[in-house]
Amino acid sequence: MYKIVTKRELNDTVTLMEIEAPHIARKAKAGQFIIFRVDEQGERVPLTIADYDTEKGTVTIIFQIVGASTKLLNTLNAGDSILDFVGPLGVPTHIDPEAKRVCVIGGGVGNAIAYPQAKALHNAGIQVDMIAGFRSKDIVILEDEMRAVTDNLYMMTDDGTYGEKGLVTDKLKQLIEAGNHYDLVVAIGPVIMMKFVAATTKPHNIKTLVSLNPIMIDGTGMCGGCRVRVGGKMKFACVDGPDFDGHEVDFDELMHRNSFYKEQEATARDHECRLLKGGNQNG
Ligand code: NAD
Ligand code: FES
Repeated sequence: MYKIVTKRELNDTVTLMEIEAPHIARKAKAGQFIIFRVDEQGERVPLTIADYDTEKGTVTIIFQIVGASTKLLNTLNAGDSILDFVGPLGVPTHIDPEAKRVCVIGGGVGNAIAYPQAKALHNAGIQVDMIAGFRSKDIVILEDEMRAVTDNLYMMTDDGTYGEKGLVTDKLKQLIEAGNHYDLVVAIGPVIMMKFVAATTKPHNIKTLVSLNPIMIDGTGMCGGCRVRVGGKMKFACVDGPDFDGHEVDFDELMHRNSFYKEQEATARDHECRLLKGGNQNG
């Protein structure tokens, strides 16, 4: 069992948990992920590692409450435990030692994963500009943390309620056109955002890394559930990724595959809601 050491609600639908998992904390690197299972009946859910503390022996996860499993996880509190917490899985983000200036882009809850990437780059002595995009002010997360590990942080909101009004790609275009030179762009967020970030950088020939989160089952390269087409070849995000060259990813196929189980997911969520309303809400 894996104990929840800390629970912090970052906004109405996004929660941070620090989980006691010393063996994972010892080996974890930016870009890797874990798979958790709340209980025996639970599905296996992959989450990119948001942070880790080797001394405390903890791994931080940040999740959006979108489905039955994350809803169930969010009913737990500090002191409670979850059944399975497996990792670190996947290939750590490769930081090019030649890179001098990098632009990290986070979209919505994807900022939870963009933040540790920015931190790792910053700790490697690289100049980091970050563009953090949110739909509106009320769902902004981790601003202080992101500011602490970046040289320039550009906050963007779709509705203009905080920072500058516009999408992350608007700011990226503006920065590139103003003559800022980036050796690398790292983009993490909704697939559609990563698609358009890659489309923005391609004409400028700026290497672009994206972190993909397709449907995963075993997380060990056995089931094929997480397959994505990259450069015309089939890759497994769990063992070949989750980071890939954004100019090579078939984003349209990925979006199509990610929508396969929307109906079943909605049914499971409703079922879970009914169970929780049946008296188990504080469990
Ligand atoms: P969202 O839909 O609110 O979008 C966040 C930001 O992305 C927007 O504010 C905007 O700046 C940008 N964006 C969205 N659509 C765009 C477009 N068409 N063109 C350019 N920019 C665009 O995001 P959300 O609801 O918080 O969802 C976050 C997503 O991130 C989820 O889909 C989740 O699966 C994904 N995610 C991915 C990872 C990963 O490891 N890849 C990790 C966590 C979350
Ligand atoms: Fe099964 Fe990747 S999750 S192969």
